[in-house]
Amino acid sequence: MEVVTKIVQLKSIVSRVKGEGKTIGLVPTMGYLHEGHLTLAKEARKENDFVVMSIFVNPTQFGPNEDFLSYPRDLERDKRLAESASVDVIFAPSVEEMYPTNGGISIHAGRQSEILCGASRPGHFDGVLQVVTKLFHLAEPNRAYFGQKDAQQVAIVQTLVRDYNFPLEIRTVPIVREEDGLAKSSRNVYLSKLEREEARAIYEALQIAKETFLSSYHVKMALDEAKAYILSKTTGEIDYLELLSYPDLQPVTEDTKQFLLATAVYIGKTRLIDNIIFSIE
Ligand code: PAJ
Repeated sequence: MEVVTKIVQLKSIVSRVKGEGKTIGLVPTMGYLHEGHLTLAKEARKENDFVVMSIFVNPTQFGPNEDFLSYPRDLERDKRLAESASVDVIFAPSVEEMYPTNGGISIHAGRQSEILCGASRPGHFDGVLQVVTKLFHLAEPNRAYFGQKDAQQVAIVQTLVRDYNFPLEIRTVPIVREEDGLAKSSRNVYLSKLEREEARAIYEALQIAKETFLSSYHVKMALDEAKAYILSKTTGEIDYLELLSYPDLQPVTEDTKQFLLATAVYIGKTRLIDNIIFSIE
């Protein structure tokens, strides 16, 4: 496995690999890898001849009061884990390498970014689209891999790819969880022991909401029950807990067949997100 930090190095590897007629799978990450990231890499490994993983804590997707500076970073550990998932190249650029100039041109994520995480993190998805656009141009992947953990991110990236004709396929991977159900996240390291114990209530609450909804078709009742559960089991604060149609992220109607039940909860200072996608017939 090679580790490159410069765009010219990545481009030269990509052009060699493409010249050999090989397919490329791209796994964009912000590093501090865990089993969720590695599942994406393993899926990419199965479906492509060559796997590029990017590790870049992207400043443009963090708000001014968010955790850009304290976001966990450990490239040496990430290298070992990526190698174990048979990644071919890690692309780990500096901020200056990725953003040497600021021409002031931004990509606005639009309607799908006005709700859920987008509502509480203004500009977040614009930053995500900025960095994935660059990564798509640099790695020229046939397929790019995203986790369902960030369901809104997947929906928005899919819209970008479709509406702007990026010549690649977006592949998604289900949420990888800890044994007690907590979704794996690089941010879980922020949790104290007590907070970590409380955090399991997030997924439990989503399951309660899903079951209540499926037995009543009553959106508000389902959400209220789940919110009450979180508030009774944790000292946390709910940012949002919503049930929407998926993948268009619109309010649920009688015709909705596929649902996204999504939440963001502050446990202490740590903002954790989770979701369940389900359908009815
Ligand atoms: P990051 O949070 O590092 O996540 C990288 C990828 O791993 C994302 O597609 C995310 O959905 C996926 N992932 C994270 N936890 C997961 C889990 N428990 N199960 C399955 N997949 C999981 O998402 C980002 O970085 C950034 O926004 C990025 C796309 C890299 C752009 O900067």
